[in-house]
Amino acid sequence: MPNDTLTIKDNRTGRSYEIPINDNAIRANDLKKIKVDDDDFGLMTYDPAFLGTAACRSSITYIDGDKGILRYRGYPIEQLAEQSTFLEVAYLLNHGELPNQEQLKHWTDELTSHTYVHTNITKFLEGFRYDAHPMGMLLGAVSALSTFYPDAKNIADPKNRYLQRIRLLAKAPTIAAFAFRHSRGLPFVFPDNDFDYIGNFVNMTFSIGGRHKPNKVLQRALEVLFILHADHEQNCSTNAIRAVGSSHVDLFSAVSAGIAALYGPLHGGANEAVLNMLDEIDSVKNIPDFIRGVKAGERRLMGFGHRVYKSYDPRAKLIKEIAYEVFEQTGLNPKLDIALELERIALEDDYFITRKLYPNVDFYSGLIYQAMGYPTEFFTVLFALGRMPGWLAQWEEMVIDSEQKISRPRQIYIGSDERPYVPMGKRQSTVSAEAG
Ligand code: CMC
Repeated sequence: MPNDTLTIKDNRTGRSYEIPINDNAIRANDLKKIKVDDDDFGLMTYDPAFLGTAACRSSITYIDGDKGILRYRGYPIEQLAEQSTFLEVAYLLNHGELPNQEQLKHWTDELTSHTYVHTNITKFLEGFRYDAHPMGMLLGAVSALSTFYPDAKNIADPKNRYLQRIRLLAKAPTIAAFAFRHSRGLPFVFPDNDFDYIGNFVNMTFSIGGRHKPNKVLQRALEVLFILHADHEQNCSTNAIRAVGSSHVDLFSAVSAGIAALYGPLHGGANEAVLNMLDEIDSVKNIPDFIRGVKAGERRLMGFGHRVYKSYDPRAKLIKEIAYEVFEQTGLNPKLDIALELERIALEDDYFITRKLYPNVDFYSGLIYQAMGYPTEFFTVLFALGRMPGWLAQWEEMVIDSEQKISRPRQIYIGSDERPYVPMGKRQSTVSAEAG
């Protein structure tokens, strides 16, 4: 037994148990031996929403939520945002090391040769209603990729898994741009492999009658935003991918589960929700009333709070700086005043201070995307494009982890005890009770 142990005394039986502690954690399964009698299943931990449960070992991303630290493979996010390209970061997350010149060229070439989607994917996207939410389109199309690449089912082969990851990282911007064009009634612009990864996406999105002439500052800002979103360890969408992927389904199906999770307003959908909230507040003079509603528990201040960060989200700090660079090019976003005032009040107000609620990655990102010309409902798609390398790396790590098994939590059953079947004629009518 190692020195680091936990002694537990079960007051129901008076028995004591010694449980090993490794990496500041105990194994939930070690609690199984704590029983009242032999046919008892043993003690479980009850942890809805994984507030205190680690579900994997990971070497991809490190977060210290109290100190506001975020590192990919050991590299501080601030240094990556300043010096790296998105494809270098994608390589880093997926290979564990920064690429040298030759490796980066090879990685870029591989991705460039997979940017096209099958013509039937374009037809599939055309089939959506004119006002379809682009996250729904992305979700549907990524999941549909599994039918175009049935070989993706062979997840036991490392080369095959690599190919599918390349395919998805390469095609995601194409699908996203097509979803954007569809909502505007514009013809699709196909990938142009003379552009780099970000430039190609921007061209497929904004080009009208010829190649788009990008504003370099805006394009770099978009790239940095993608870098800041590239991974965030075991967040809701990554956990969804790991859980679904643990059934050994193909990569495309697993990632579509992650896209679905990201869509929600408590996760990636928060960037869209922030803009809707700023629209609704409309003017700085309405903020005190809005904050009163938040403190009364009637609503949430979207873009604030985080499960892990209990200080300023380091990504939010960087994004605020980018916002000013972007606004120098585009002119100030008129909603910036409202956002700044909300932040000022929240950082001084006891309600937010005691709960350690600070701006998160989604608070300012939407203002930037809007200034760049993206419609509100497209913001979460941009988040998904940024997060893709992290999702792929986390999926791969899960697949090769010999400790992982099909994800299958336990429950505490609180329903009826066994009871005899009631024939239809003898069942009580509940219609009036339900209606009432
Ligand atoms: N506005 C007002 N109160 C809040 C907020 C908020 N944004 N977030 C948390 N609280 C309160 C919450 O009501 C609770 O108060 P009390 O203790 O009195 O009941 C306390 O703070 C703890 O909240 P929680 O719901 O237990 O915290 P959580 O870790 O389960 O939730 C969160 C984290 C991100 C879902 C939540 O903070 C939230 O809903 N924020 C708004 C949505 C948002 O911005 N999401 C983006 C998250 S960052 C990027 C990403 O993941 O995509």
